[in-house]
Amino acid sequence: MKTYLVTGGAGFIGSNFVHYMLKKYNDISLINIDKLTYAGNLENLKAVENDPRYMFVQGDICDKALVEKLFKDHDIDFVVNFAAESHVDRSIREPEVFVNTNVLGTVTLLNAAKNAWEIKDGFKEGKKYLQVSTDEVYGSLGETGYFRETTPIDPHSPYSSSKAGADLVVKAYFDTYKFPINITRCSNNYGPYQFPEKLIPLLINNCLNKKLLPIYGDGLNIRDWLYVEDHCKAIDMVINGGRFGEVYNVGGHNERTNIHIVKTVIDYINKNVDSAVTENLIKYVEDRKGHDRRYGIDPTKIREELGWEPETDYEAGIVKTIKWYLGNKEWMDRVTSGEYTKYYEKMYEAK
Ligand code: NAD
Ligand code: TYD
Repeated sequence: MKTYLVTGGAGFIGSNFVHYMLKKYNDISLINIDKLTYAGNLENLKAVENDPRYMFVQGDICDKALVEKLFKDHDIDFVVNFAAESHVDRSIREPEVFVNTNVLGTVTLLNAAKNAWEIKDGFKEGKKYLQVSTDEVYGSLGETGYFRETTPIDPHSPYSSSKAGADLVVKAYFDTYKFPINITRCSNNYGPYQFPEKLIPLLINNCLNKKLLPIYGDGLNIRDWLYVEDHCKAIDMVINGGRFGEVYNVGGHNERTNIHIVKTVIDYINKNVDSAVTENLIKYVEDRKGHDRRYGIDPTKIREELGWEPETDYEAGIVKTIKWYLGNKEWMDRVTSGEYTKYYEKMYEAK
């Protein structure tokens, strides 16, 4: 019986991970600590809220006393740190909160885990801290080449630099104390429960409401898209099989330009939902500051060492995703009410 401390489990990837793990394993227990920022939503976890293997704690990963108490009250085996401020555009507007949660929150978790797991000459058996990081720490690629685990870190946005800072602290805990860690660096995820400030759910939501689809710059920036469940599968494999101290890149060779994504979403909605949704909704807007041009992951290491392979290709994944949002319009309406609307109206006015 393993006990997982999942942080940020009410967000997009964290909630998918909670569902994935509780479906896959009977003999685990899972504690989810989440601050419930605008990006966290307990509705994502409605189906498991009464599951005896699952427990929710509302709280901040920067709250040292609370995090230490969790380790005191529970024999935690694995920490999976998803909690983060995760949106690049927001990080450009308000960087401080990114450093606070992404860097200081990570140190708080590391320290509490280290204190709880430390024994004479090392750490208790079977424990691990996994940092969920991102390919964005590597910076931006030219037209060729891929990010490997050995690619130097070169982040450009306040978001990616705060994630890179956290990765370096995690690495330092291994280098200095031999504290058992892994870091995963995944490419862009898509799928159910993603907050509609990120490209794909934003496009779906705007299409359904016949709002303009803002494309930054020339629309030719490239992201390497991975269906969220394939990321969850990778994290599970790294927790259970990753070598201590190692970084694992996660990606499925699904590179697409942003304009390609936009046209796929429009095309699906035009043919299946509303023929009035056309490319006329596309609006090219001012480019994002410091906009990374291309991300592309080389997943050779996780494939060869752990046997990870993605199961959902982009064509199937994007249809599954659009259908999920179509079937969950109330979820979309609820998360896009209030603060969201005000934020986006201000942002579009500024462009
Ligand atoms: P998200 O923004 O959807 O969710 C983040 C969650 O963390 C929310 O539930 C939020 O309430 C919670 N949170 C924020 N600050 C907190 C704090 N101080 N204490 C406790 N909880 C807090 O993000 P996501 O897209 O699910 O990303 C999860 C993780 O995966 C992040 O670390 C992100 O850097 C990483 N990642 C994301 C992607 C992607 O494409 N979304 C790709 C690679 C890696
Ligand atoms: P995003 O989903 O914010 O992820 P990230 O910046 O972490 O890769 O954006 C994905 C790509 O889409 C990125 O190149 C920026 C672009 N983009 C737009 O063109 N318009 C938008 O409204 C958004 C949110 C993103």
